[in-house]
Amino acid sequence: MENQVLKAITERRSTRGFESTPLTEEQIETLMSAAAASPSAMNLQSWHFTFCSDSVAITAVEEEVGRIIMDGDDDDAKQRMKGRNMEVFYNAPTVVFISSDAQSCWSDLDAGIAAENIVLAAQSIGLGSVIVGMCKIAFEGEKGNKFKDMLKFPQGHRFSLAVALGTPNVSKEAHPIGENKFSVM
Ligand SMILES: Cc1cc2nc3c(=O)[nH]c(=O)nc-3n(C[C@H](O)[C@H](O)[C@H](O)COP(=O)(O)O)c2cc1C
Repeated sequence: MENQVLKAITERRSTRGFESTPLTEEQIETLMSAAAASPSAMNLQSWHFTFCSDSVAITAVEEEVGRIIMDGDDDDAKQRMKGRNMEVFYNAPTVVFISSDAQSCWSDLDAGIAAENIVLAAQSIGLGSVIVGMCKIAFEGEKGNKFKDMLKFPQGHRFSLAVALGTPNVSKEAHPIGENKFSVM
């Protein structure tokens, strides 16, 4: 079976390299609509989406993630960071920072579902994307409150997920499907 939704689902990849071309206003509005259309537990919509195209702000978060990892004792994380050239957002011209109500037990799940709506919508309009969770450490560290203010998180919100977006300048194979992931009864 084939249709446009299934095509976007099967052709989406995590993009880890972007052109500097900024997103258009129309693209950003389209992605905002896709985010807002997401389902949420009890329709609480306990999320907030900061569409950030400010490279200074994006770089500040990225550098803090690098600093925390390189100052820490997780050698795997250090290797991964070095292997990715210390990039967290891969030069994406726009990053959506999704924050959510820290009191709600469903809000991280809601944010994850909204992130998927954003990446599939991005795929459908010819943009690349990657969901980024690792920058969470920057919001939990000593500069966390500064970043929350800078990125306009509402009061009482925590970081949930980020989505880096832009025109891809890399390509990637589909991920291999793991074994024993389904049962049919
Ligand atoms: C919750 C979540 C967090 C993720 N965090 C990161 C991240 O911090 N950095 C990154 O490069 N990719 C991140 N990814 C992307 C995954 O690595 C990617 O989805 C996976 O390797 C499968 O590849 P694909 O998306 O191309 O199918 C994240 C994905 C999810 C769903």
